[in-house]
Amino acid sequence: MNPFKYGTIVSGKDFCGRKTLLKQIIGYIESSQHIVILGERRVGKSSVVYEAVLKCNGERLLYVDLLGIKSIDALCRRILRAIVVLEQKTGWFDKIIKTLSYLRPTISVDPITSMPTVSFDASVEMKANSIPEVLTLIESLGKKRPVAVVFDEFQDILNLEDSHEALAILRSKIQFQGNIPYIFVGSIRHKMDEIFTHHDSPFFKSAIPLTVAPLSYEEFSKFLKKKFTMGQRKIDDEVLEKVFKIANNIPGDIQQLCEAIWEVTTEKKISPDKLKNAIELIFAREQKSYENYISLLTNIQLKCLMAIAKEGGNSVFSISFMKSAGFNNPSSVRRAITRLTKLNILFESGGEYKFINPFFRAWLPYKG
Ligand SMILES: Nc1ncnc2c1ncn2[C@@H]1O[C@H](COP(=O)(O)OP(=O)(O)O)[C@@H](O)[C@H]1O
Ligand SMILES: [Mg+2]
Repeated sequence: MNPFKYGTIVSGKDFCGRKTLLKQIIGYIESSQHIVILGERRVGKSSVVYEAVLKCNGERLLYVDLLGIKSIDALCRRILRAIVVLEQKTGWFDKIIKTLSYLRPTISVDPITSMPTVSFDASVEMKANSIPEVLTLIESLGKKRPVAVVFDEFQDILNLEDSHEALAILRSKIQFQGNIPYIFVGSIRHKMDEIFTHHDSPFFKSAIPLTVAPLSYEEFSKFLKKKFTMGQRKIDDEVLEKVFKIANNIPGDIQQLCEAIWEVTTEKKISPDKLKNAIELIFAREQKSYENYISLLTNIQLKCLMAIAKEGGNSVFSISFMKSAGFNNPSSVRRAITRLTKLNILFESGGEYKFINPFFRAWLPYKG
């Protein structure tokens, strides 16, 4: 079986390293300190938080994923669903169901995944005044047994039309829940900054920021080599170093590439030329979504993207970049980049524009 996992939270034996960070997070949880976890996509934020809560002294995890939420109603439903799932095995469950009776909760078990699913009456729309109620429910959970609350992809709360109001209400409730640690996780840096470092944000300086950096080559390559060895295969540093480079050191992308290398090899020793086959496998799997991206772009945007794929996104407003991309006007580059960022193709980090998906970056010049 392919031992590499990507795109999901990893824990236990699939979790590598991060001893210091884990210890730090556990310390904060146990002293009920609120924290913000920042870092690029697929670097390992959700996993490290999950692993930390597992290793705590009995805190249970209330995990709420806010990815893609668009309304206060959705926010409340996500939290309620998490509560119901958490309490499903305890006697308290009936009480919660009663408290939520106006939402007519129905619980069922997905026949394929065996995961409990909860649905609420869709005709009831929860508004801002439901947020305090929902948070009171969390508070009573915490009184029974310690709980740590994780809001993952927290920046998506800014998508709500009334995000300021939602944040203000959340903040005003949370600050009186002294015994419950809240962990806010986010990958879009400027949005997280808007929430936690802007003076007029209700969450201004309300939590201690921690950054999740890529795993070191030394630590992570050892972990990956072991996985290959367990399947009677051997991979050299020569190949692994290239894998890290292609994946920009992002653990999730590194594991994705290792998964593909595993798929295209059977022999004992993995030679460097197998990397090409692995990348082609990823291209073949992802081709449709790349083409879909391209179909969303204008010619100018595509030219700009190609230029970044070839030359990197360090100095996109420089004369030499514009020349090679075929522009003579920085404002058209700016507009193209704004659109490419909105489409989640590029992101900005320390003044550099990078591809969110490194394999898409590799595919562009290969294709064009
Ligand atoms: N500590 C780790 N050990 C091994 N792999 C990891 C680790 N952290 C992240 N990964 C890899 O990255 C992928 C994404 O991790 P995740 O925690 O979901 O990242 P994020 O929440 O930052 O997007 C995982 O599926 C795994 O492949
Ligand atoms: Mg995550």
